[in-house]
Amino acid sequence: MAAAASYSSASWRVRPSLTPWRSPLQPHGRAQRMAICATRMEYRSQVAPSAMQSSSTLHRFEAVSHDQKTIPERLAVVTGGNRGIGLEVCRQLALQGATVILTARDEKKGKDAVESFCHESNLSNIIFHQLDILDDNSCTSLAQYIESRFGKLDILVNNAGVGGVAVDQDGLRALNIDPKVWLSGKAVNLIQSVIIQTYDEAVKCLNTNYYGLKGVTKVLLPLLKQSTSGARIVNTTSLRSELKRMPNEKLRNELRSVDIWDEARIEAMLNEFLVDLKNERLEEAGWPTMLPAYSMSKTVVNLYTRILAKRHPEMRINCVHPGFVNTEINWNTGIIPPEEGARGAVKAALLPQDGPTGCYFDQTEIGEAW
Ligand SMILES: NC(=O)c1ccc[n+]([C@@H]2O[C@H](COP(=O)([O-])OP(=O)(O)OC[C@H]3O[C@@H](n4cnc5c(N)ncnc54)[C@H](OP(=O)(O)O)[C@@H]3O)[C@@H](O)[C@H]2O)c1
Repeated sequence: MAAAASYSSASWRVRPSLTPWRSPLQPHGRAQRMAICATRMEYRSQVAPSAMQSSSTLHRFEAVSHDQKTIPERLAVVTGGNRGIGLEVCRQLALQGATVILTARDEKKGKDAVESFCHESNLSNIIFHQLDILDDNSCTSLAQYIESRFGKLDILVNNAGVGGVAVDQDGLRALNIDPKVWLSGKAVNLIQSVIIQTYDEAVKCLNTNYYGLKGVTKVLLPLLKQSTSGARIVNTTSLRSELKRMPNEKLRNELRSVDIWDEARIEAMLNEFLVDLKNERLEEAGWPTMLPAYSMSKTVVNLYTRILAKRHPEMRINCVHPGFVNTEINWNTGIIPPEEGARGAVKAALLPQDGPTGCYFDQTEIGEAW
């Protein structure tokens, strides 16, 4: 990496400059894209008895708001809630009594997921709202909906993510890589012919996994500050983020000290990473070579989590590695089911007020990533 320490002004930005962020309180003309499975009043009577029993102490409502709508004690937003780990986080949070806004970029997929929760699991405390974390208008629309309907948010689970590589799936399956080899990072040579880190995929990966996550968080922060049960932010990370996997020793040491980092410096580092990727200098410069963009995106998710936790000590803000979960992001090579993979995020979302903040969870336990 060329001069890792000089993170001065970058010549170009990763994230294309889109419409500026608007305050969630600012009116706008877009129609609300939402489907509510049941109104809050209906929810009181329709919620599954099993869910009610399993969460009797959590499942309380506050007083009726000024406009006669009941406000849930815990309101959660889950990004990328239509499948995989996110879908399961929605289910488990709903079973714990939270009202969950399941978001998905594809309206049909999101509505179908909510419908099946309604009909198959009898969970009616899950609401759909469209959200593409790469689309500023979509983020603002969600914030406006929450502001007008609930006036606050208690839990944000930043789950949406992409793998950031081009893959020959048949070729990968044919390699039949042992999960232990995969997890150790030693598969890097094996996978070279079937998993390609293209520049375009790298940009998409950083935009989604880091800039998209940061954008959603920024627009929902004013609502999280209004939380009545204590705001929780859960950022989904990966063991690829663990600093022991970062070959560049100088950078590794710098990444350990959260105090020297802010968003501008993170952006400069990511720009430098992309320049080195473009110039085919990743190995020479000491960047990760196993899923390079994905690893960098999750490394900065961890850093951003720590920065936010310092900035908002009144909230509990943590990052969670879900485990090696069998989902589409890893072409279904994972070894644990989404039900198990969701547990860490759910635990971090429901932490008590004196719980940890600014930490890395390896599934449900605090681990060491930096
Ligand atoms: N599975 C694992 O072993 C593993 C390990 C470590 C970390 N993780 C992390 O866990 C999270 C969930 O992944 P998963 O395993 O459940 O994979 P998945 O099944 O591929 O789910 C990814 C989800 O993210 C959504 N998404 C992608 N880009 C989006 C965007 N721009 N806006 C909104 N939603 C978007 C996808 O929506 P579409 O359906 O529209 O594509 C999908 O719902 C990711 O952050 C991933 O990095 C997973």
